[in-house]
Amino acid sequence: MDRDWSIDDWNKWWESAGGRPDGEVIESSHHHDTTDEQTEEEDIYAPTVSEMLKKHKSLISGDAGSSSRVFLTFCGKSLDLKWLADEGFDVVGNDCSDFALKSFLEEQGLEYDTSKSEGFTIYKAKNTKLALYAGNFFELTGEKTGGKFDAVWDTGSFQSVGVTDRATYARAVSGLMKQGCKYLLSVTQFKELRTWTGPPYEISEEILDEVFGGNMKWEFVDQAPWGDYMEKIYLLQLK
Ligand SMILES: C[S@@+](CC[C@H](N)C(=O)[O-])C[C@H]1O[C@@H](n2cnc3c(N)ncnc32)[C@H](O)[C@@H]1O
Repeated sequence: MDRDWSIDDWNKWWESAGGRPDGEVIESSHHHDTTDEQTEEEDIYAPTVSEMLKKHKSLISGDAGSSSRVFLTFCGKSLDLKWLADEGFDVVGNDCSDFALKSFLEEQGLEYDTSKSEGFTIYKAKNTKLALYAGNFFELTGEKTGGKFDAVWDTGSFQSVGVTDRATYARAVSGLMKQGCKYLLSVTQFKELRTWTGPPYEISEEILDEVFGGNMKWEFVDQAPWGDYMEKIYLLQLK
Protein backbone atom coordinates (compact mmCIF):
# COMPACT_ATOMS: atom_id res chain seq x y z
CA MET A 1 0.00 0.00 0.00
CA ASP A 2 1.20 3.50 -0.67
CA ARG A 3 -0.71 5.29 2.08
CA ASP A 4 -2.30 4.64 5.47
CA TRP A 5 -5.84 3.29 5.34
CA SER A 6 -8.75 4.79 7.27
CA ILE A 7 -11.43 2.67 8.93
CA ASP A 8 -13.66 3.59 6.03
CA ASP A 9 -11.08 2.23 3.56
CA TRP A 10 -10.87 -1.05 5.51
CA ASN A 11 -14.63 -1.43 5.74
CA LYS A 12 -15.05 -0.82 2.02
CA TRP A 13 -12.22 -3.21 1.25
CA TRP A 14 -13.69 -6.02 3.34
CA GLU A 15 -17.10 -5.57 1.75
CA SER A 16 -15.75 -5.54 -1.78
CA ALA A 17 -12.89 -8.04 -1.65
CA GLY A 18 -13.38 -10.06 1.52
CA GLY A 19 -9.80 -11.32 1.30
CA ARG A 20 -6.33 -9.90 1.63
CA PRO A 21 -6.04 -6.07 1.79
CA ASP A 22 -3.71 -5.67 -1.16
CA GLY A 23 -4.78 -8.76 -3.05
CA GLU A 24 -1.27 -10.11 -2.60
CA VAL A 25 -0.69 -13.84 -2.73
CA ILE A 26 1.86 -15.10 -0.24
CA GLU A 27 3.99 -18.05 -1.19
CA SER A 28 5.05 -19.67 2.03
CA SER A 29 5.34 -23.17 3.30
CA HIS A 30 6.09 -21.82 6.76
CA HIS A 31 2.64 -20.42 7.48
CA HIS A 32 0.61 -22.45 5.10
CA ASP A 33 0.01 -26.14 4.87
CA THR A 34 -0.10 -26.06 1.11
CA THR A 35 1.18 -28.77 -1.16
CA ASP A 36 2.92 -28.39 -4.51
CA GLU A 37 -0.30 -29.38 -6.22
CA GLN A 38 -2.12 -26.41 -4.80
CA THR A 39 -2.18 -23.29 -6.89
CA GLU A 40 -1.01 -19.89 -5.65
CA GLU A 41 -4.65 -18.79 -5.78
CA GLU A 42 -5.48 -21.20 -2.98
CA ASP A 43 -2.58 -20.06 -0.84
CA ILE A 44 -4.15 -16.80 0.25
CA TYR A 45 -3.60 -14.61 3.29
CA ALA A 46 -3.68 -16.47 6.61
CA PRO A 47 -5.75 -19.49 5.55
CA THR A 48 -4.19 -21.46 8.40
CA VAL A 49 -3.47 -20.97 12.04
CA SER A 50 -0.18 -19.19 12.79
CA GLU A 51 2.65 -21.69 13.33
CA MET A 52 4.32 -19.21 15.68
CA LEU A 53 1.17 -18.98 17.78
CA LYS A 54 1.00 -22.77 18.03
CA LYS A 55 4.69 -23.00 18.87
CA HIS A 56 4.57 -20.35 21.58
CA LYS A 57 1.16 -21.10 23.04
CA SER A 58 2.71 -21.78 26.44
CA LEU A 59 3.98 -18.19 26.62
CA ILE A 60 0.45 -16.81 26.58
CA SER A 61 -1.07 -19.56 28.69
CA GLY A 62 0.39 -18.06 31.86
CA ASP A 63 -0.46 -19.22 35.33
CA ALA A 64 -4.09 -19.69 34.44
CA GLY A 65 -3.10 -22.30 31.83
CA SER A 66 -5.19 -22.50 28.71
CA SER A 67 -8.08 -20.80 30.41
CA SER A 68 -6.29 -17.45 30.02
CA ARG A 69 -8.30 -14.57 28.63
CA VAL A 70 -6.67 -13.58 25.35
CA PHE A 71 -7.29 -10.56 23.13
CA LEU A 72 -6.61 -10.43 19.38
CA THR A 73 -6.03 -6.94 18.00
CA PHE A 74 -7.26 -6.12 14.47
CA CYS A 75 -8.33 -9.76 14.14
CA GLY A 76 -10.12 -9.67 10.79
CA LYS A 77 -11.08 -13.25 9.94
CA SER A 78 -7.99 -14.80 11.50
CA LEU A 79 -8.31 -18.54 12.08
CA ASP A 80 -6.20 -18.02 15.20
CA LEU A 81 -9.44 -16.89 16.92
CA LYS A 82 -11.08 -20.28 16.54
CA TRP A 83 -7.89 -22.22 17.28
CA LEU A 84 -7.38 -20.40 20.57
CA ALA A 85 -11.02 -20.94 21.54
CA ASP A 86 -10.71 -24.65 20.69
CA GLU A 87 -7.57 -24.78 22.86
CA GLY A 88 -9.66 -23.58 25.78
CA PHE A 89 -8.76 -19.89 25.88
CA ASP A 90 -11.42 -17.29 26.56
CA VAL A 91 -11.05 -15.30 23.33
CA VAL A 92 -11.97 -11.71 22.51
CA GLY A 93 -11.19 -10.15 19.13
CA ASN A 94 -11.71 -6.73 17.65
CA ASP A 95 -11.90 -5.41 14.12
CA CYS A 96 -13.46 -2.28 12.68
CA SER A 97 -15.16 -4.38 10.02
CA ASP A 98 -18.52 -5.69 11.08
CA PHE A 99 -18.62 -7.52 7.78
CA ALA A 100 -15.34 -9.39 8.46
CA LEU A 101 -16.39 -10.51 11.93
CA LYS A 102 -19.82 -11.71 10.85
CA SER A 103 -18.34 -13.51 7.84
CA PHE A 104 -15.82 -15.19 10.13
CA LEU A 105 -18.52 -16.53 12.46
CA GLU A 106 -20.67 -17.70 9.58
CA GLU A 107 -17.78 -19.35 7.72
CA GLN A 108 -16.78 -21.16 10.92
CA GLY A 109 -20.36 -22.32 11.45
CA LEU A 110 -20.53 -20.61 14.84
CA GLU A 111 -23.91 -19.53 16.15
CA TYR A 112 -23.87 -16.19 17.92
CA ASP A 113 -25.86 -13.54 19.72
CA THR A 114 -25.57 -9.89 18.77
CA SER A 115 -25.71 -6.91 21.12
CA LYS A 116 -24.60 -3.29 21.08
CA SER A 117 -22.74 -1.44 23.79
CA GLU A 118 -20.86 1.85 23.95
CA GLY A 119 -20.31 2.20 20.22
CA PHE A 120 -19.40 -1.45 19.61
CA THR A 121 -21.42 -4.29 18.12
CA ILE A 122 -20.63 -7.46 20.03
CA TYR A 123 -20.92 -10.91 18.50
CA LYS A 124 -20.83 -13.57 21.16
CA ALA A 125 -20.50 -17.18 20.02
CA LYS A 126 -23.05 -19.45 21.67
CA ASN A 127 -21.14 -22.66 22.33
CA THR A 128 -17.58 -21.46 22.66
CA LYS A 129 -15.76 -18.78 24.63
CA LEU A 130 -15.38 -16.30 21.79
CA ALA A 131 -16.60 -12.70 21.56
CA LEU A 132 -15.90 -10.31 18.70
CA TYR A 133 -16.15 -6.54 19.07
CA ALA A 134 -16.83 -4.59 15.89
CA GLY A 135 -15.66 -0.99 16.12
CA ASN A 136 -12.63 1.25 16.41
CA PHE A 137 -9.89 -0.38 18.47
CA PHE A 138 -8.64 3.01 19.62
CA GLU A 139 -11.90 3.43 21.57
CA LEU A 140 -11.88 0.01 23.22
CA THR A 141 -11.05 -0.39 26.92
CA GLY A 142 -10.81 -3.20 29.45
CA GLU A 143 -14.09 -2.04 30.98
CA LYS A 144 -15.91 -2.28 27.65
CA THR A 145 -14.66 -5.84 27.13
CA GLY A 146 -15.59 -7.04 30.61
CA GLY A 147 -12.13 -6.79 32.16
CA LYS A 148 -8.46 -6.76 31.24
CA PHE A 149 -6.59 -9.64 29.61
CA ASP A 150 -3.96 -12.23 30.53
CA ALA A 151 -2.58 -12.21 26.98
CA VAL A 152 -2.66 -10.33 23.69
CA TRP A 153 -1.91 -11.81 20.26
CA ASP A 154 -0.99 -9.26 17.61
CA THR A 155 -0.17 -10.51 14.16
CA GLY A 156 0.26 -7.99 11.37
CA SER A 157 -1.78 -5.51 13.39
CA PHE A 158 0.66 -3.04 14.97
CA GLN A 159 2.54 -3.28 11.71
CA SER A 160 -0.48 -2.05 9.73
CA VAL A 161 -1.11 0.99 11.97
CA GLY A 162 -0.22 4.39 10.49
CA VAL A 163 2.93 5.95 11.96
CA THR A 164 0.97 8.81 13.56
CA ASP A 165 -1.42 6.34 15.24
CA ARG A 166 1.26 4.12 16.81
CA ALA A 167 1.24 5.84 20.20
CA THR A 168 -2.58 5.67 20.32
CA TYR A 169 -2.40 1.98 19.44
CA ALA A 170 0.15 1.35 22.21
CA ARG A 171 -2.07 3.20 24.72
CA ALA A 172 -5.11 1.14 23.68
CA VAL A 173 -3.21 -2.17 24.01
CA SER A 174 -1.80 -1.15 27.40
CA GLY A 175 -5.32 -0.36 28.58
CA LEU A 176 -6.33 -3.97 27.89
CA MET A 177 -3.38 -5.57 29.68
CA LYS A 178 -3.51 -6.87 33.26
CA GLN A 179 -0.28 -6.56 35.20
CA GLY A 180 1.63 -9.70 34.13
CA CYS A 181 -0.19 -9.83 30.77
CA LYS A 182 1.82 -11.46 27.97
CA TYR A 183 1.63 -9.44 24.76
CA LEU A 184 2.92 -11.60 21.90
CA LEU A 185 3.71 -9.50 18.84
CA SER A 186 4.40 -10.89 15.39
CA VAL A 187 6.01 -8.60 12.82
CA THR A 188 7.19 -9.35 9.32
CA GLN A 189 10.57 -8.09 8.20
CA PHE A 190 10.50 -7.31 4.50
CA LYS A 191 14.09 -6.06 4.29
CA GLU A 192 15.04 -4.80 0.84
CA LEU A 193 11.94 -6.44 -0.60
CA ARG A 194 9.79 -3.65 0.87
CA THR A 195 9.11 -1.52 -2.21
CA TRP A 196 5.93 0.21 -1.02
CA THR A 197 5.76 3.34 1.13
CA GLY A 198 2.68 2.73 3.32
CA PRO A 199 1.64 -0.18 5.56
CA PRO A 200 2.54 -2.83 6.44
CA TYR A 201 5.58 -1.08 7.89
CA GLU A 202 8.94 -2.50 8.81
CA ILE A 203 9.04 -2.66 12.63
CA SER A 204 12.53 -2.33 14.06
CA GLU A 205 13.56 -2.82 17.69
CA GLU A 206 14.13 0.95 17.86
CA ILE A 207 10.43 1.41 17.02
CA LEU A 208 9.48 -1.04 19.79
CA ASP A 209 11.54 1.05 22.24
CA GLU A 210 10.11 4.31 21.01
CA VAL A 211 6.43 3.26 20.91
CA PHE A 212 6.15 0.77 23.78
CA GLY A 213 9.26 1.52 25.84
CA GLY A 214 7.55 4.02 28.18
CA ASN A 215 5.51 1.44 30.07
CA MET A 216 6.50 -1.92 28.57
CA LYS A 217 9.62 -4.05 28.34
CA TRP A 218 10.11 -6.34 25.37
CA GLU A 219 12.21 -9.37 24.50
CA PHE A 220 12.91 -11.17 21.26
CA VAL A 221 11.36 -14.66 21.22
CA ASP A 222 11.78 -16.30 17.83
CA GLN A 223 12.06 -15.84 14.10
CA ALA A 224 11.44 -17.93 11.01
CA PRO A 225 11.25 -17.35 7.27
CA TRP A 226 7.83 -16.37 6.00
CA GLY A 227 8.06 -16.83 2.25
CA ASP A 228 10.79 -14.41 1.14
CA TYR A 229 10.33 -12.41 4.34
CA MET A 230 11.15 -13.10 7.99
CA GLU A 231 8.58 -13.34 10.78
CA LYS A 232 9.80 -12.11 14.17
CA ILE A 233 8.09 -12.69 17.48
CA TYR A 234 8.47 -10.44 20.50
CA LEU A 235 7.07 -10.72 24.01
CA LEU A 236 6.03 -7.44 25.63
CA GLN A 237 5.01 -6.99 29.26
CA LEU A 238 4.04 -4.02 31.39
CA LYS A 239 6.94 -2.75 33.51
C1 LIG B 1 -3.47 -6.38 8.04
S1 LIG B 1 -5.05 -6.77 8.68
C2 LIG B 1 -4.61 -7.80 10.07
C3 LIG B 1 -5.37 -9.07 10.02
C4 LIG B 1 -5.24 -10.08 11.17
N1 LIG B 1 -4.43 -9.65 12.28
C5 LIG B 1 -4.80 -11.42 10.63
O1 LIG B 1 -3.77 -11.94 11.07
O2 LIG B 1 -5.47 -11.99 9.78
C6 LIG B 1 -5.54 -5.29 9.46
C7 LIG B 1 -6.95 -5.34 10.05
O3 LIG B 1 -7.13 -4.23 10.89
C8 LIG B 1 -8.46 -3.78 10.82
N2 LIG B 1 -8.42 -2.39 11.32
C9 LIG B 1 -7.79 -1.34 10.77
N3 LIG B 1 -7.94 -0.24 11.54
C10 LIG B 1 -8.67 -0.61 12.62
C11 LIG B 1 -9.14 0.06 13.81
N4 LIG B 1 -8.86 1.35 14.03
N5 LIG B 1 -9.87 -0.64 14.71
C12 LIG B 1 -10.12 -1.96 14.52
N6 LIG B 1 -9.71 -2.66 13.43
C13 LIG B 1 -8.98 -1.99 12.49
C14 LIG B 1 -8.84 -3.99 9.36
O4 LIG B 1 -10.22 -4.10 9.14
C15 LIG B 1 -8.10 -5.29 9.02
O5 LIG B 1 -8.93 -6.41 9.21
